[in-house]
Amino acid sequence: SDVRLWGARFADGPAEALAKLSASVHFDWRLAPYDIAGSRAHARVLNKAGLLTEDELKRMIAGLDRLEADVADGSFTGTIADEDVHTALERGLLERLGPDLGGKLRAGRSRNDQIATLFRMYLRDHARIIGGLVAELQDALVGLAEAHPDVAMPGRTHLQHAQPVLFAHHVLAHVQPLSRDAERLRQWDERTAVSPYGSGALAGSSLGLDPEAVAADLGFERGSVANSIDGTASRDFVAEFAFITAMIGINLSRIAEEIIIWNTKEFSFVTLHDAFSTGSSIMPQKKNPDIAELARGKSGRLIGNLTGLMATLKALPLAYNRDLQEDKEPVFDSCDQLEVLLPAFTGMMATLTVNRERMEELAPAGFSLATDIAEWLVKQGVPFRVAHEVAGECVKECERHGIELDELTDEQFAKISEHLTPEVRSVLDVAGALASRDGRGGTAPSAVAVQLAEVKADLATQ
Ligand code: ARG
Repeated sequence: SDVRLWGARFADGPAEALAKLSASVHFDWRLAPYDIAGSRAHARVLNKAGLLTEDELKRMIAGLDRLEADVADGSFTGTIADEDVHTALERGLLERLGPDLGGKLRAGRSRNDQIATLFRMYLRDHARIIGGLVAELQDALVGLAEAHPDVAMPGRTHLQHAQPVLFAHHVLAHVQPLSRDAERLRQWDERTAVSPYGSGALAGSSLGLDPEAVAADLGFERGSVANSIDGTASRDFVAEFAFITAMIGINLSRIAEEIIIWNTKEFSFVTLHDAFSTGSSIMPQKKNPDIAELARGKSGRLIGNLTGLMATLKALPLAYNRDLQEDKEPVFDSCDQLEVLLPAFTGMMATLTVNRERMEELAPAGFSLATDIAEWLVKQGVPFRVAHEVAGECVKECERHGIELDELTDEQFAKISEHLTPEVRSVLDVAGALASRDGRGGTAPSAVAVQLAEVKADLATQ
């Protein structure tokens, strides 16, 4: 018989070309368990409304249980002829229960409210999975910071040496955005905990069904939607999810880019573990940071998923339009990509070795303590404008002689400015420069220890 849910008014079946275009079962099949859960909840409200007897409800639930088991073990799958997951599962139910009982379940629901509900359920589950994977990466980064509490490195702006910072401070600067991403996922989940089931095609149902009961049954803590048109037509929850996953990708790409640079011969700040790097098929000596490069590359793909989705939504009139079938593949892909990327990325970060000597050797290079000279002068009562100029003169003098700031003699200092007494040397060392930045959020070991404790406390509640 005709598997289509809408065949009656049509004299002819769909053209082959239309069937091929229309089919979504090859990508929406992953929603099958959610579709069956929705069907169980729907059967219960049909029963409550007097549209299924107790006995019919029992047999219906048993049929759905059997169908679920057959889907799980692969003995029942959708085919291209089914068009979508909803149609395929209806066929499966009819095959198991016969048309009289199986045909009763569709009353009062539409694929439009079904898909909007199932999609939320799927993304909420994956928000939790991705949130867990992000937490594991945060743990690895916190471990890296904790294992190197006193390593100094050159802090950079414009990729130029700026001021020395604690390596742990730099690593925690990558943890902070991930904490906000995790928070974004939790807040998104709370916003998305509203069920569209019961909205029907767009206008709600005349059958006296209880959307709030379905919502509770399906785990939507905030009940059912206030507006059936909005429930079936809105996809801002998808766009927001795509943004959060793209942002996670972007944050990973910023770590990745640094790993790639730090792993070069020129930098030699880190060594990647063999298990988390790759070789070359022609150059025997090569050890490549492929995980970091894939993270950098995939972030572009995640941004593409977001922008493609937003372009699909733009100017779409209410209510449901078939355009909305294009909403799923991009975010399914975003989930898939992050779920393979994050574990590998975490492994890379958890196993890399830090070249402490190299980082510390470069920490004071490039006149990165010039600011400390200026700030020391300010403490002697010199206006900062003058202090900045004097420190600049010191740099110029060093460049002229090809030396670093701490190699200037007392005479050279005195010649540059009468304020530059030999005591200025007290700030020309990295440990002193770091320790002096001890205000909240600063790079002093004492301030970084406070930050680390806060991050760990936050992670424990995440
Ligand atoms: N496969 C469709 C989607 O993904 C489900 C809803 C179809 N509704 C319809 N009236 N054709 O959006």
